[in-house]
Amino acid sequence: MSVVILYGSETGTAELVSDAISDVLAQQHDVSMYDMADFAVEDLHADDFVVAVCSTYGEGELPTGAEPFAEGLDDEKPDLSGLRFAVFGLGDSVYDDTFNRGGEIIAEKLTELGASQVGEHGRHDMSSKVAAKVQAKEWAEGLTKVIGA
Ligand SMILES: Cc1cc2nc3c(=O)[nH]c(=O)nc-3n(C[C@H](O)[C@H](O)[C@H](O)COP(=O)(O)O)c2cc1C
Repeated sequence: MSVVILYGSETGTAELVSDAISDVLAQQHDVSMYDMADFAVEDLHADDFVVAVCSTYGEGELPTGAEPFAEGLDDEKPDLSGLRFAVFGLGDSVYDDTFNRGGEIIAEKLTELGASQVGEHGRHDMSSKVAAKVQAKEWAEGLTKVIGA
């Protein structure tokens, strides 16, 4: 099973977190990693496992780096049945009404197109004492049990 990690970021945290997730998953899987801004939705394949790592900006909106991918999903509406994915979102609980919405928006869009979310939906909180990379590594270790061979 190949894993495709897609990160959507404004200031780079999601990319650092994706590196940490990649380090864990690459022990068992063939892993590739892309900025969502450089990834075409037609390259989503049901035989890959997608890990979406996405921050939140504005008032519960997607970061700039995730916008082209989200627009591609909205415009092209690919049939994603059979595709499995997991989400690790980034946010800050000072934004309590919109906490971690970015990752949730990506999950909603993929699910609407037929893909299935698996595993725990990770939500990092920038106001917590836990570093995003540390939480992401633990999350990825849990995910290895879900991805399968
Ligand atoms: C201007 C601004 C707006 C933000 N809005 C939200 C928000 O609505 N909800 C949330 O959970 N986090 C919000 N955040 C926090 C970021 O999502 C968080 O710091 C994240 O780790 C940044 O990741 P990135 O560097 O990959 O973009 C905001 C941060 C900034 C600077």
